[in-house]
Amino acid sequence: MFRGLIIGGVAVFALVLAMDGNVDAGKDKASIKDVMKKAMKGGLCGKVASGKASDEEKKQLISLFTDLAAAKPPKGEEASWKEKTKALLDAATAGDGAALKKAANCKECHSAHK
Ligand code: HEC
Repeated sequence: MFRGLIIGGVAVFALVLAMDGNVDAGKDKASIKDVMKKAMKGGLCGKVASGKASDEEKKQLISLFTDLAAAKPPKGEEASWKEKTKALLDAATAGDGAALKKAANCKECHSAHK
């Protein structure tokens, strides 16, 4: 009984550590360039938009877009950046493929903020 408790405790502890590891990876904020490479050019965003992504990939995209929204673009109005990145984040969070495709407008955002 006591032994079982210890083993259970260790398992929970290991789980917490594993989850903590994930949080840590997320804490290291991705730069705009990282997000572009992984989500946009890398095709993660397109995959989620097409509905073919796994739950893990969806989570990764949400995390990348969270960092994107918190980043400061090299140029352009802050309000416009917030609006564009929020649209991406909202669409990714909702898993709304059509909204995601619309929000991931490379040209429009690049001409305003890149
Ligand atoms: C919400 C705005 C936004 C959207 C949407 C967007 N980008 Fe970007 N992208 C940027 C900004 C801002 C930069 C410049 C980053 C910098 O120089 O720090 C950039 C840079 C890039 C770069 C250069 C990265 C590097 O290492 O220099 C690539 C490649 C890129 N974007 C691809 C894409 C593609 C492909 C899409 C569409 C599927 C896309 N982006 C959509 C904002 C956006």
